[in-house]
Amino acid sequence: MAKKIAVFASGNGSNFQVIAENFPVDLLFSDHRDAHVLERAKKLGVASFAFELKEFASKADYEQALVDLLVEHQIDLVVLAGYMKIIGPTLLAAYEGRIINIHPAYLPEFPGAHGIEDAWNAGVDQSGVTVHYVDSSVDTGQVIQQVRVPRLADDTIESFEARIHEQEYQLYPQVLESLGVERK
Ligand code: GRF
Repeated sequence: MAKKIAVFASGNGSNFQVIAENFPVDLLFSDHRDAHVLERAKKLGVASFAFELKEFASKADYEQALVDLLVEHQIDLVVLAGYMKIIGPTLLAAYEGRIINIHPAYLPEFPGAHGIEDAWNAGVDQSGVTVHYVDSSVDTGQVIQQVRVPRLADDTIESFEARIHEQEYQLYPQVLESLGVERK
């Protein structure tokens, strides 16, 4: 049976867009009710759900609502694409080994929320993109696939960032296919 995927995104959603153009996405979740990604989902005809941590008494309650959503939709794989929250024990207990994330650096180099900027500021001559399984720490789970992205002599941080994003748009679909998600 075809693998059913959910994408989680907090903001812009350009990775979601590329994924949804290439694969059937069963649902999009955003932890911000006003995120731009929700408009993308609407245009692409992908069912979307949004609620916020602050609307719940605890992170465990918030994540239980997510688990309920995923179970209701029989989701096999959770694809984090710019989801800016740490995955907590409630979600991990239900889905560990079935949650993947994309990070805009070559892990274990430059983990955290500012992977591109941190690599740029460190003056590296190459950075990269990583897709990995999610565990209880930040950007530490088992690497599935990663690619190098050079920093060119005439790069600005904007051009460097754009080249990294271009690689993300190539890598995430490749990884999804390698994990048995069928293309449209
Ligand atoms: C991407 O660079 C991704 O690697 C990181 O957050 C960014 C999300 O961008 N985790 P977008 O929302 O997909 O445009």
